[in-house]
Amino acid sequence: MENFEFCIGVNILFGKDQVENLPSVLSPYGKKVLLCYGGGSIKRIGLYDKIKDLLSDYEVYELSGIAPNPKIDSVREGVKLCREHGIDCILPVGGGSVIDCAKAIAAAVYYNGDPWQMILEQKPIEKALPIVTILTLAATGSEANSGAVISNPATNEKLGLGAPVLMPKASIMDPTYTFTVPAKQTAAACADIMSHLMEQYFVPKSSYMGDLLVEAVMKTIIKYAPVAAKEPDNYEARAQIMWGSSIGDNATLCNGNMLAVFGVHGMEHELSAHYDLTHGVGLAILTPAWMKYVIQKSPEVVIPRFAHFAKAVWGLEGENDSVLANNAIKAIENFFKTLELPQTLTEVGIDSSRFAEIAEHAHRTEMLEHAWIPLNAEDVISIFRMCL
Ligand code: NZQ
Ligand code: ZN
Repeated sequence: MENFEFCIGVNILFGKDQVENLPSVLSPYGKKVLLCYGGGSIKRIGLYDKIKDLLSDYEVYELSGIAPNPKIDSVREGVKLCREHGIDCILPVGGGSVIDCAKAIAAAVYYNGDPWQMILEQKPIEKALPIVTILTLAATGSEANSGAVISNPATNEKLGLGAPVLMPKASIMDPTYTFTVPAKQTAAACADIMSHLMEQYFVPKSSYMGDLLVEAVMKTIIKYAPVAAKEPDNYEARAQIMWGSSIGDNATLCNGNMLAVFGVHGMEHELSAHYDLTHGVGLAILTPAWMKYVIQKSPEVVIPRFAHFAKAVWGLEGENDSVLANNAIKAIENFFKTLELPQTLTEVGIDSSRFAEIAEHAHRTEMLEHAWIPLNAEDVISIFRMCL
């Protein structure tokens, strides 16, 4: 087992009606709150009105219209509001995009310059406004981790930032809020969760317990994703997915593993930077292609691991590791197919015209040479081509 440091400061309030605790959860941080949300889903599910009622003693300011793949302009707007009104605490209500935007705002308030410059510099972030989240879409784990990803459409870049101070102070997670997430978005969310788990599982060295923990969450997502897609108000399915998403992307499961750069995520972030693609859709398209590519590139490393994945996660049996490994690829491909996720880049309107440019940028910024199976720009182009 590798050494690790693990300190999670987020107080999680999980389950039905936990939002009733919002006033007391916010109270240590001050009275001026910036409520952040997206395109209006929180109004349609009645959560907006509920929050306004609960916070009648607070001074609530609003930043709305935060788009999927949150854009740097929303961060700029949020920073302006925080400074103008002397905001004490940020309250993102939504999915990963809204929470990520709030994290970038929380840090950029204390940055002397344009927020995009702060993200480009990648200097340690020492100070940020406190954040309390209310999650309405279980996918990224942003409610329980200290990272964020922001897009700049002017430069076709999508870059990450992260720091312990960006860990939310508290997150309210009521699975009933996710009942209205459409089947397509639920499917994309589950592909994202599976991808986080796979990126922690296909690593240079894992531990016995680390493997078992990741396998348990993978099996949970495989069991409940189709249920949630078909029965959107199935509480148990939504709850299992919600908790799986949070612990699936905040090191709880993989402490003690020797990790590598998240290669499939790196490639997807580059695609969504250029095409504003739904993150989980991009991952569902890239993952089987990546598996087919790396099994050819480094069979001696990849085949035994994929074979283990086949047995432990999918319950497959086979005459040898090579058969098992290839059947594991088919299993994940079928899982995404069952969820009716797109299978090719062509289906989502992406052709090969910008592959070279995107792959070159991916190579420069995503550190793919430090992935489990190192990838260069040529490898990335080949994987993209397999997705057409
Ligand atoms: O904008 P609204 O109207 O709220 O609609 C949203 C949005 O259109 C909708 N939605 C959310 N809750 C809903 C709902 N619709 C109906 N009912 C509800 N209860 O869902 C759409 C997508 O929302 P978004 O927040 O974009 O999705 P997600 O949570 O998948 O976040 C994706 C973003 O997070 C980044 C991705 O790259 C992408 O930018 N990631 C963040 C990570 C992190 N911070 O740790 C890690 C991930 O790997 C990922 O990169
Ligand atoms: Zn992801």
